[in-house]
Amino acid sequence: LCAFVAPSEAQTYPTRGITMIVPFAAGGPTDVISRIVTSHMAQTLGQSIIIENVVGAGGTTATTRAARAANDGYTLITGHMGTHAASVPLYPKLAYHPEKDFEPVALLAGTPILILARKDFPPKDLKEFVAYVKANAEKVNAAHAGVGSVSHVSCELLHSILDIKPVGVPFNGTGPAMNALVAGQVDYMCDQIVNAVPQINAGTIKAYAIATPERNPSLPNVPTTIEAGLPNFQAQAWNAMFAPKGTSPAIIASLNAAVIKALDDETVKKRLLELGSVIPAPKDRTPEALATLVKNEIAKWSPVLKPAT
Ligand code: MLT
Repeated sequence: LCAFVAPSEAQTYPTRGITMIVPFAAGGPTDVISRIVTSHMAQTLGQSIIIENVVGAGGTTATTRAARAANDGYTLITGHMGTHAASVPLYPKLAYHPEKDFEPVALLAGTPILILARKDFPPKDLKEFVAYVKANAEKVNAAHAGVGSVSHVSCELLHSILDIKPVGVPFNGTGPAMNALVAGQVDYMCDQIVNAVPQINAGTIKAYAIATPERNPSLPNVPTTIEAGLPNFQAQAWNAMFAPKGTSPAIIASLNAAVIKALDDETVKKRLLELGSVIPAPKDRTPEALATLVKNEIAKWSPVLKPAT
């Protein structure tokens, strides 16, 4: 007699293509990081991973959709510091809870924040920027990717330090916001580095400072906010993969292993580093580490951010 053993879920998964929801427009940091990592994961998993950009409400529209998707491992989302932390205090009626409605899969990248401006924005450096936006707070505007997005929350932090309330100009992601900055249609933006490096290097926008303690190797000439005279403005975001709550531990383990393999791949690593991302250390790549990060980030942002409506 021969015994037939049903293959475990982890051995069979995935048997068809996976959808990765990106809660912002194509060409922004969330989209770019998702594409770099999932293109390698697709090779590991032997199935295609289709990126679906679902925009609106600072990423919360897409995140609500992902929370309600079938928990079968075929719909995932790239969330971030905004969708899975800052949105909690900003949207009192948020239709999902980052901790209760998702299974953390893995952290994908850390993304330092930069203060960027259109090429012909008058201030030459950060000190001049601070003086200029304080003197012209009624006139200047800041582009962002919707209430609760990283770009919105980061500039809120900057504005609270400077004690100003300039007009915000929302876009469906900082991909389109960056296009507007390059075209000179908006004044400045607090954006994740991934979006900014190609434009800064091409000279199409200017960067006043990076809001991390150290300079970034991909932008060696951009001073830190500490060097440039605004040490209190420190901001680094993160992007991470989540599955709907109840997705089986075997599937989460397969996905986590595929993310780790991607992050260790030389080509993936090179691309992420070229764009200024911080590659998560091995200890930060587990689902448990991501769960802790989400918890800590919600606790960090909740007393700082007030409901938007
Ligand atoms: C954000 O501001 O949250 C992101 O930059 C949005 C995006 O990825 O476009």
